[in-house]
Amino acid sequence: MKRRSFLQSAAALAATPALQSLLDSAAAQTPPAITPAPHRFPQDFVWGTATASYQVEGAFHEDGRGPSIWDTFSHTPGKTYQSQTADVADDFYHLYKHDIALMQRLGVKGFRFSIAWPRVFPQGTGTPNPKGLDFYKRLTDALLAAGIEPFCTLFHWDLPQALQDQGGWTNRATSHAFADYARYTVGQLSDRITQWMTTNEFDSFIDGGYGSADNAPGLKLPRRELAATRHNAVVAHGLAVQAIRAAATRPILVGLAEDVSGIMPAIADPAHIRAAEIAIREVNAPYTTVVLEGRYTDRYLATLGADAPHFTPDELKTISAPIDFFGLNCYTTQEVVPADTPDGYLIVPRPSTYPHMASDWLFLNPQALYWTPKFLSSIWGVKKIYITENGCSCDDVLRPDIRVLDTDRVLYLRNYLLQLQRGIAEGNPVAGYFLWSLLDNYEWGSGYSKRFGITYVDFQTETRTPKLSSDFYRNVIANNSVV
Ligand code: BG6
Repeated sequence: MKRRSFLQSAAALAATPALQSLLDSAAAQTPPAITPAPHRFPQDFVWGTATASYQVEGAFHEDGRGPSIWDTFSHTPGKTYQSQTADVADDFYHLYKHDIALMQRLGVKGFRFSIAWPRVFPQGTGTPNPKGLDFYKRLTDALLAAGIEPFCTLFHWDLPQALQDQGGWTNRATSHAFADYARYTVGQLSDRITQWMTTNEFDSFIDGGYGSADNAPGLKLPRRELAATRHNAVVAHGLAVQAIRAAATRPILVGLAEDVSGIMPAIADPAHIRAAEIAIREVNAPYTTVVLEGRYTDRYLATLGADAPHFTPDELKTISAPIDFFGLNCYTTQEVVPADTPDGYLIVPRPSTYPHMASDWLFLNPQALYWTPKFLSSIWGVKKIYITENGCSCDDVLRPDIRVLDTDRVLYLRNYLLQLQRGIAEGNPVAGYFLWSLLDNYEWGSGYSKRFGITYVDFQTETRTPKLSSDFYRNVIANNSVV
């Protein structure tokens, strides 16, 4: 068939409701002559999906929840896409049982979500709000009843506004308040939840919130204050690790979720790999490197000079408190080449034709899921990794006659998972994968303009419609392999 006439007939087919039943019955038909070899995952691999409180819950005034910095930020005109807020978002606060049914349809074994700190402590500290905590009890009870293990993040950016009024993460008191909140919450919920993460993506809530002003609270601090604020955040993580271990009422596992800035060798030869090893430690110096090594790199401190953070040996010990797993949020990576520079590498600027998904930052490079876990294991000796986020934004269109056939997202997921499997087969210690995201949701500054879900959400009606990618993921999970 000529290219043009093929496209025409495909378009005609897509326009008919018959396509849906054709898709549904395809699986039931006789086995095809061609059966691609499956790339298998380990037997006990945890397949999951991920969300975060502010992005899905809505119910922003309900049951005593206090305001967070994201309420303030999103309600300030011009801060987010079309000044959109997450006052309602996916209304997950009320529809969570429905969404657990979606998870059961997928067959996931784990669900990563976050607790909204201002639901538990409306003022950030002081008197807890039992009604806020009750929501997470109901949620985790329902997950466990559905055979889905809860993986809980304690902080995914929705800092209580009351703490921001006292400086937020610029104030060391916030690090201690975070540990207190972690202690209380884990004491209350560790009968139900054994997998805990402290913070999600330091760089996003510190550099994005206090450096570039893209995220709440929308500040642009001078370099010295920004460096001190970063330091407060990693101290908070370390204090929380200690608090979680002390408060747990039964054995639990603690980690964090980090968007390690991905670096890979442009060419997989020894010189490029060495350059990548040097680069990944340096570009992640303020966060991953200090958390895993208990030291800031010489280059980081020298670059900051007089603006470098002040720290004590005790603080470095706290920051690098041993963790049980590393949660890796992994969307993309960037190539390095060896170069005649003081550090011996060059991060290659992306050519203008480098492909990306709907978000302009989300460059397509499946090898992120091969190299980043490999470096976590080879450089820092990490023994257990969960991919706590991976997925992509696409220009999804829900047409009245058919659902979303997001072949672009399937392309992304298939190729990333193939690289993940390739790495695991070589020994990368990855124990699970949480797809971002179960639902289209409130994508921070992008509001509802970027869709990351494998389920389409109509934000007027809250109707959920699984996309083609959700069938793809269901197949991967059912077969524990990707083809
Ligand atoms: C991660 C965050 O950075 O990426 C998620 O942990 C976020 O909360 C996701 O939704 C997509 O990023 P963004 O900035 O495009 O919304």
